[in-house]
Amino acid sequence: MEEVIHKEKQTFKTNWKKDSRQEKPRLLETVQKGNELRIPVKDAELSRVLGGGLVPGSVVLIGGEPGIGKSTLMLQVALQFQGLKVLYISGEESDSQIRMRAERLSYNNDQCYLYTETSTQKIGKALQELEPEIVIVDSIQTLQSELIDSTPGSISQVKETAGDLIRFAKETNTPVFLIGHITKDGSLAGPKLLEHMVDTVLQFEGDRHHVYRILRTTKNRFGSTSEMGIYEMQSGGLREVSNPSEILISQRDEALSGIAISAAIEGMRPLLVETQALVSTAVYGTPQRNSNGYDARRLNMLLAVLEKKCGLRMGTQDVFINIAGGIRVEDPGIDLGILAAIVSSYENVPLDASICFAGEVGLSGEIRAVNRIEQRISEAEKLGFKTIYLSGFNKLPGNPGKIKVVSINKLEEMLRLLFG
Ligand code: TYD
Ligand code: MG
Repeated sequence: MEEVIHKEKQTFKTNWKKDSRQEKPRLLETVQKGNELRIPVKDAELSRVLGGGLVPGSVVLIGGEPGIGKSTLMLQVALQFQGLKVLYISGEESDSQIRMRAERLSYNNDQCYLYTETSTQKIGKALQELEPEIVIVDSIQTLQSELIDSTPGSISQVKETAGDLIRFAKETNTPVFLIGHITKDGSLAGPKLLEHMVDTVLQFEGDRHHVYRILRTTKNRFGSTSEMGIYEMQSGGLREVSNPSEILISQRDEALSGIAISAAIEGMRPLLVETQALVSTAVYGTPQRNSNGYDARRLNMLLAVLEKKCGLRMGTQDVFINIAGGIRVEDPGIDLGILAAIVSSYENVPLDASICFAGEVGLSGEIRAVNRIEQRISEAEKLGFKTIYLSGFNKLPGNPGKIKVVSINKLEEMLRLLFG
């Protein structure tokens, strides 16, 4: 369908009080540095993910599946900016719903304003009148510009409304948070362009049935993209998890067989993932193989390697694999952890909870090097692991830190070390 744009109806207010920035070209040398001027963010996880506070005039997009806690997080953040004039714009919920949510949260900011509106023209006017110091928009897909005939959430609406808000942010030097919905395949709904338009893209993810949530940076013009923040969803909002190893360790109070942790890389970021394997003698003729979150064909390959190279009789066993938290991992570097979980279940011998793995397994049982080994090692160390098994072909970083690195070249070697 062709989209009609009425340019003559330019009604998004742009005559707000502009920042002192010049509108003419000027010498780079005369431009003031702005990076020390970050607005402190009370939430330590969010602050770190943003690169150490909030940059004035920056636009931060927060994406996540419905129900994951985006509105909760942003309302909580709004209330934490104590003494700053914050405008929370919602096109999703009513005033009273948001008020009710705010009551549950244990923060208070008497300068927090609420505006349930979806028209960017009206929002522009409100921004001009209120002159907020921080703006939160929940969500970009509900906004509508009168200049565009298509429905909210369509590509052209998202482009136009986000463009309006980004212009506001840059012209007034006010930071703006945009909440964005995520489609079924996990990408941000709306144009890919939206991600290019904003300064920072954060993903809020986790399994809705579990309490833990992860906030990751996928793009940041003002900081690294390898940071992640971890939260626990409680009845009184999201609690910062400052020591993330508590997540993994609490689940493993008693040693269970069939569990192994891999130091994986997902996208650009390191992530420790837990593999659960169940191996049991097949009752029916054909053994069953089932894999959640890990490639089923790769699982069959690993089982063949175990049978042929390590002499384990996998052909008569049912094998079930599950990656905890409902996440899907593409990184072949989790092969080693998957194998360790399978053999642990097969032998019924629990693995020490302080061990993790990073390595790809080849057809002849060789352990192959994986990328970004420094990041994997340092993440494992940060999360409190004491030993990491990895490929002898991986070049180790100069200073691996306190964690003990066990380098192995063949799968048989590792199984001998772990299971005798
Ligand atoms: P919400 O922030 O509405 O998610 P999103 O905006 O991403 O769609 O969070 C929804 C869930 O969070 C909902 O199932 C209830 C739960 N929740 C809590 O567990 N504790 C709380 O304090 C709040 C406010 C919500
Ligand atoms: Mg919401």
